Amino acid sequence: MKKRLFIKTYGCQMNVYDSARMAELVAPLDYAPVETPDGADLVILNTCHIREKAAEKVFSELGGILRFKRAKERQGERMLVAVAGCVAQAEGEEIMRRAPFVDMVFGPQTYHRLPEMIARATREGGSVLDTSFPAQPKFDHLPATRSEQGVSAFLSIQEGCDKFCTFCVVPYTRGAEFSRPTAQVIAEAERLVAAGAREITLLGQNVNAYHGAAPPSGSNGGSEWGLGELLCAVARVPALERLRYTTSHPRDVDDALIAAHRDVEQVMPFLHLPVQSGSDRVLAAMNRRHTADDYRRTVQKLRQARADLALSSDFIVGYPGESELDFRATLDFIAEIGFAQSFSFKYSPRPGTPAAGEKQLPEEVKAERLAELQALLQKQQRAFNAASVGRVMAVLFEKPGRHDGQLVGRSPYLQPVHAEAAPETIGKIMPVRIISSHANSLSGVIAGDLDEAAQ
Ligand code: 5AD
Ligand code: SF4
Repeated sequence: MKKRLFIKTYGCQMNVYDSARMAELVAPLDYAPVETPDGADLVILNTCHIREKAAEKVFSELGGILRFKRAKERQGERMLVAVAGCVAQAEGEEIMRRAPFVDMVFGPQTYHRLPEMIARATREGGSVLDTSFPAQPKFDHLPATRSEQGVSAFLSIQEGCDKFCTFCVVPYTRGAEFSRPTAQVIAEAERLVAAGAREITLLGQNVNAYHGAAPPSGSNGGSEWGLGELLCAVARVPALERLRYTTSHPRDVDDALIAAHRDVEQVMPFLHLPVQSGSDRVLAAMNRRHTADDYRRTVQKLRQARADLALSSDFIVGYPGESELDFRATLDFIAEIGFAQSFSFKYSPRPGTPAAGEKQLPEEVKAERLAELQALLQKQQRAFNAASVGRVMAVLFEKPGRHDGQLVGRSPYLQPVHAEAAPETIGKIMPVRIISSHANSLSGVIAGDLDEAAQ
């Protein structure tokens, strides 16, 4: 009988990818995924540290896990409990101290050693802590991807970050910027497509800082490729229909990347390009290394390359020192640029980051500003979705929808689209006439031909 593996994933898509790789890594040890921690043989919490109360959430989750662990012990069996991800990286020792029943604690850079850690924890008892930053990247040790991620797959190409925005823990938890060699990325893309992927999202904390070692006969003669060149190469994988990438930094949008949006038909017309604030004063304090005007110019160039490009962004309100005027500048900036979708957060001081030591704004101010900002973003998102009604869009169907006979897929602009379609339609791109729009999705019917603009 297979051993039961339960993984709970918090946070970003990078963690989703890492969790999938962990599942693959332990599959040869006979672990198969299950949907509940109750009775599991191995429980992994893959944690996120980006915003508030992350550690507290993990401790409260661990409380529940402990009950299952004890129940299993009463049956004479052992449940191994692991805490992985960025909270583990940042607070490893604290976790071992406060939750001594945890068997393994390891960060995002060492999970390739999981089989070894399981062996040690099983053999020796006691706990294993591994939050080092190994000199050799984990990707060199991970087995080739086997997982069937489905129609739309993630592929990590870059990790860590050297930007050191003053609010952000990523440079500390994920470490220095690192790019996987292009050949490794292309080989993984080929395997994902062979396993059924039709869309791949290239992942990285600062994905467009990508600068991977080029193949020996690099087509441009250079020793490294940027993201623009990588997109062109991955797009040549047969049967791969769509490419996306996330998350980008405005400073690293170069001409080759803009050209890829113009020239590579698989590159979808949707870009998550966080700006955080519309005020130059706040952007400087955040060490973002760009102004509102730099962002504006980059968006102009991108829209020249691809007129229908839809944008999304992240925003932080209530950063230390943010005045009412700064906040208004952000609202004006949103109104000017126009975002199809966005994420927004109250600033939350992260221990160890420069801004955490600054004088904080009152909670009510943060809450009021967030509500006002989100109302504007919601309005833009609804308007963007409403403008899709009546159009025929190319929808890549991914999975069954909530109702019988219904499937759900994505438009080129990442909007979820519901339509009635046969199950065999999963994995196919179909023209869908959009008949209604909602806050976060669209509904439509399979139609004849595609609109030119919505492929
Ligand atoms: N407080 C609030 N939001 C944050 N983010 C990152 N760090 C913080 C923080 N300390 C947001 C940023 C980033 C997104 C992933 O999370 O907007 O782009
Ligand atoms: Fe964090 Fe992104 Fe800034 Fe890097 S670029 S420090 S990941 S917000």
